[in-house]
Amino acid sequence: MAMDVISVIRTKRDRGELTDEQIDWVIDAYTRGEVADEQMSALAMAILLNGMNRREIARWTAAMIASGERMDFSSLSRPTADKHSTGGVGDKITLPLAPLVAACGAAVPQLSGRGLGHTGGTLDKLESIPGWRALLSNEEMLHVLDTTGAVICAAGDGLAPADKKLYALRDVTGTVEAIPLIASSIMSKKIAEGTGSLVLDVKVGSGAFMKTIEDARELASTMVGLGTYHGVKTVALLTDMSTPLGRTAGNALEVRESVEVLAGGGPADVVELTIALAREMLDAAGLKDADPAKALADGSAMDVWRRMIAAQGGDPDAELPVAREQHVVKAPSSGVLTRLDAYDVGVAAWRLGAGRARKEDPVQAGAGVEMHAKPGDRVTEGQPLLTLHTDTPDRFAYALQSLEGSFDIGSDADFTATPVVLERIV
Ligand code: URA
Repeated sequence: MAMDVISVIRTKRDRGELTDEQIDWVIDAYTRGEVADEQMSALAMAILLNGMNRREIARWTAAMIASGERMDFSSLSRPTADKHSTGGVGDKITLPLAPLVAACGAAVPQLSGRGLGHTGGTLDKLESIPGWRALLSNEEMLHVLDTTGAVICAAGDGLAPADKKLYALRDVTGTVEAIPLIASSIMSKKIAEGTGSLVLDVKVGSGAFMKTIEDARELASTMVGLGTYHGVKTVALLTDMSTPLGRTAGNALEVRESVEVLAGGGPADVVELTIALAREMLDAAGLKDADPAKALADGSAMDVWRRMIAAQGGDPDAELPVAREQHVVKAPSSGVLTRLDAYDVGVAAWRLGAGRARKEDPVQAGAGVEMHAKPGDRVTEGQPLLTLHTDTPDRFAYALQSLEGSFDIGSDADFTATPVVLERIV
């Protein structure tokens, strides 16, 4: 059927519902280059302002899946389980989680991304390990998954190419923060990837896309609905991102902390979330008797980590890069640290060189922020609160600007602990 893009844009601009045919056509025509970027930007803005109903979102997702290839893990002897986080500050959970879940018997195909803006990217973190390669062919990916139980690598160009194009466009047109577009973007890639089960870690708070629990609930239930509709057993946890996860934000800093978790130590919040997500993944994969806490304690998760890193060219024993310069931020008074803002710390890490402003920018492996106290900890005037790391010290002033007003020190009465896991959505 002949379609024209202007009538599709007008339908959504005027708060109408897009038909299945309109959606299939516009996604296909945009992927082929027949619909121009400026036309798709107008449509994305109309969707951001006027929303889409569940049928439209399901069809939009299906059309993006159909724009590329679908992977097939049916040759594997283990059930597949995957996790996706909507992104946060200090969110290194994929690093200990993938080998942990593999050590408990599932196959974990973790197609990951790079950081953009204040949120870090799993591939940037792992690339701080000397020799480690993010780019694998589909055959290499299956081989690593089959032999080690887990693989963390870049999604190939063939997977949901419509999303690749649309996500880059949304990033530069102020249209990222639309629940229908975020849900379809994430789920089209996950469904095309072919995992049997999926656990979503939907972040809530200043360092997350979703600033309120209501928006996070809406995003989570939309994604769970999409996964279930497409035959993927999907569960979501809403988790706190008002403060950074763990004690580090930055690439090599986060790898070091992840290895501590795999060695049975590490910050309590990272361990708690890693085990909570592992339990959900194992449950969803039908491995209800597995014990992830034991696999962390007995070193079996660490064994998988070492094999997985080595299988992708990395040296698990290599020294990790350290930034050339450090600057310490001291506590201005004594008391209880009642707040440490995730967004501000994320921006500081980014400005120090841990993140990128444009897709093609390089990142500094050693750059980032180390946190010596977490909300709820007692601090003494003059003690180190944060250490900033960078190879380029002229970045300190700009990073320090983002940390102005980023924390409060008060009394016990001013502090209320926020749980790591806020809600579970099925
Ligand atoms: N991550 C994605 O893959 N897509 C979005 O739209 C937002 C976060």
